[in-house]
Amino acid sequence: RFFDSFHRHLSSPGTAILKREEPPTGSEEPGLPGNRKTFSEVQKERHEQAQRSILISCPKKVPEKRLLKHLCQHGEITNHFFFESFGIHAVIEYSKKESIASLQDSTFIPHGETEFPIPFKSRFFNINLKNPSNQISDGTLVQCSDQSSPSNVDLVEMLCNAESVEGQIITLMRILQVTEENIRLRYLTCSLIEDIAAAYFPACTVKPFGSSVNSFGKLGCDLDMFLDLDDIGKNSAAKTAGSFSMEYQVKNVSSERWATQKILSVIGECLDNFGPGCVSVQKILHARCPLVRFSHQASGFQCDLTANNRIALKSSELLYIYGTLDSRVRALAFSVRYWARQQALTSSIPGAWLTNFSLTIMVIFFLQKRSPPIIPSIDYLKNLAGAEDKCIIEGNDCTLVSNLDRIKPSLNTETLDILLCQFFEYFGNFAFNKNSINIRKGKEQNKPDSSPIYIQNPFEPTLNVSRNVNENQLERFVHLARESAWILQQEDKSQLSKSSSHPWGLAALLLPSGLNKSKAKKPGKGPTNETIRKLLESIKADSAKRSTATREK
Ligand code: CTP
Ligand code: MG
Repeated sequence: RFFDSFHRHLSSPGTAILKREEPPTGSEEPGLPGNRKTFSEVQKERHEQAQRSILISCPKKVPEKRLLKHLCQHGEITNHFFFESFGIHAVIEYSKKESIASLQDSTFIPHGETEFPIPFKSRFFNINLKNPSNQISDGTLVQCSDQSSPSNVDLVEMLCNAESVEGQIITLMRILQVTEENIRLRYLTCSLIEDIAAAYFPACTVKPFGSSVNSFGKLGCDLDMFLDLDDIGKNSAAKTAGSFSMEYQVKNVSSERWATQKILSVIGECLDNFGPGCVSVQKILHARCPLVRFSHQASGFQCDLTANNRIALKSSELLYIYGTLDSRVRALAFSVRYWARQQALTSSIPGAWLTNFSLTIMVIFFLQKRSPPIIPSIDYLKNLAGAEDKCIIEGNDCTLVSNLDRIKPSLNTETLDILLCQFFEYFGNFAFNKNSINIRKGKEQNKPDSSPIYIQNPFEPTLNVSRNVNENQLERFVHLARESAWILQQEDKSQLSKSSSHPWGLAALLLPSGLNKSKAKKPGKGPTNETIRKLLESIKADSAKRSTATREK
């Protein structure tokens, strides 16, 4: 099914192909100087768009035109799409917020016989056909946009059909990256949570951060969001003219951390008790960064809600800047992160392994170290900043230039296949025992403590982003990096025929690590050994099964 929809995307002109290829930054023409939006412009636009949007759970077979006509009674619809997650859902974007109020006025709270509703009027609705049998036949059924990534077997097969390793790297990124629709759904989900928090703090915002906004997001990645209460009261400061100054009576607690824990605890209760579609709510308030974890069933996102987390948003902006500056940054990061996941170097469970965030910083550092550099250091980005960009958070200078047109493009012309191989070579031989990775300076520094790997946090210099990683995991990373560099170099020498019947280039690196190990031990034997042959047979059997199943449907 994925292949069908992927080929549809590739073959049909118009919007479908754009949805897969469009970089997920929200900018119209990324890469064109003078036309790049700043990070906060993108955030603001997306936030406002989400506030004009609603989420609807629809019947299985829904006549699209009739549904839209029905919803248009409340105002003009500027955008919509359907997706599948525990049934069919629609995201509808109105041109004006007022349309939603009108729709809410004409919507009922359901009354069950045995179940009792909590009458919370949100922007998440159910829509039912009054007379299903009459209506289905006269409307076209909806097409759903993909919200999940393909299996590794499918992906390996697609990569084998590429022309070059560079082509494979770009294909991998295009297939895995979050789509335009998925980004909209992420902002809408935050906006729905914001409505719940706004019951207590009317001027609050709930902002997505991390991979949902930093341009490195993969379909299926978690949704990191934070409750921003800092904007509350900002405007009122100017209004205190005259002989008196007024302030609110507030409750005080002994630390900021405690305030955050209290607020998150209450919002967590609200999500659990009143939040439509919010399930498995867990309060993890004693973590270094207290959070509420929950599943937003309708959108399918695993959400982490934090508060008071402006530095993490700034890190997201930093990664967004690097991702926008040079197209090789995102392409390489997607390959390295996916490779690490397939080799079980990263995991969805927290533990002593590397994280996607650490790997992205390693890619950035490597690209800063090329000669000439592909991207500049953070200090360079700070020095180009204007007065309006000044930003100090909790005593840390987080200033970054927001106008990306001030940054000179790189003179480095290295191709992605060279960079991928060199990345593995570089970190396969990095002196982790004495040096730390520092993207603020773009240079390695002496390690300040004995952690196996030390990656300085971009904005909190005393923190090590990879503090959790143990010696064993670092050794595995180094070993697999060396092995991968070796595989890519061997292939380069032997000029193997690039066929879809045996994994080559990047695809060969995505095989289970046992297969790579057997190859590494027998240099010169080439990749067509018995184990790989078996794997290919199973890939082929799997595709055959899938195409039979599609035909039968
Ligand atoms: N973060 C950080 N220091 C860490 C871990 C995380 O500053 N040691 C911040 C980063 O800004 C990161 C964000 O928290 O982007 C979210 O963390 P996480 O979800 O772990 O990483 P993502 O970048 O979102 O990547 P993933 O796709 O794995 O979710
Ligand atoms: Mg994340």
